[in-house]
Amino acid sequence: MKRSEINKILAETKLFVKNIGFKLPDFAYWSVGEWEKAGSDFDEIRENMLGWDITDYGQGKFKEIGLVLFTLRNGNVSSDKYKKSYAEKILILEEGQICPTHFHKNKMEDIINRGGGNLQIKLWNSNDEGKPLTTPVTFSSDGQIKTADCGTPIIITPGNSITLIPGIYHEFSALNSKVLLGEVSSVNDDNHDNFFLEKQGRFPQIEEDEVPLHYLCNEYPR
Ligand SMILES: [Fe+2]
Repeated sequence: MKRSEINKILAETKLFVKNIGFKLPDFAYWSVGEWEKAGSDFDEIRENMLGWDITDYGQGKFKEIGLVLFTLRNGNVSSDKYKKSYAEKILILEEGQICPTHFHKNKMEDIINRGGGNLQIKLWNSNDEGKPLTTPVTFSSDGQIKTADCGTPIIITPGNSITLIPGIYHEFSALNSKVLLGEVSSVNDDNHDNFFLEKQGRFPQIEEDEVPLHYLCNEYPR
């Protein structure tokens, strides 16, 4: 992706989040220059990769397969330095954009529709080898136990949520317009705990054609 494209996506995302009425922490708005001056007292942001995250899953067609995320808080499975056993993110999906099918072996997450359009989610159980099954999937949604056939579209309207336990394959898309999702979960380990049905990349290759509006979570200077 070109940096100019990422900058445009970040500017549009900030406006969308503001219009929904969700507030982000101050570091969401820091410029490159402000990061150059930030000391080691901000290491939690750097080391736990908090902040902006954009992925096209290495496929180069962001509008169809992609996601914008902002990690507000997270622990760190590789370090005892951080005691948080929980994480919180927001995820922004464009209408028609898909977050491809994956599951987590360790992370349990609630995906919350914080506003905008409807979230469509499809679920599959997996077996011990991590292969998807065709059995019906039982899940919890805002305190109610439900069961759905595998791969059936489940619609989560604004304000509502779904709980995903480890081992359940999930695919998201925004059904009728852009949607702001919340994710409240156990500690997030993107490096080792995302198992995609089809092999995906993670961070986009960036072609630098202008100055970053904001650093992404893997770009902070030390
Ligand atoms: Fe997930």
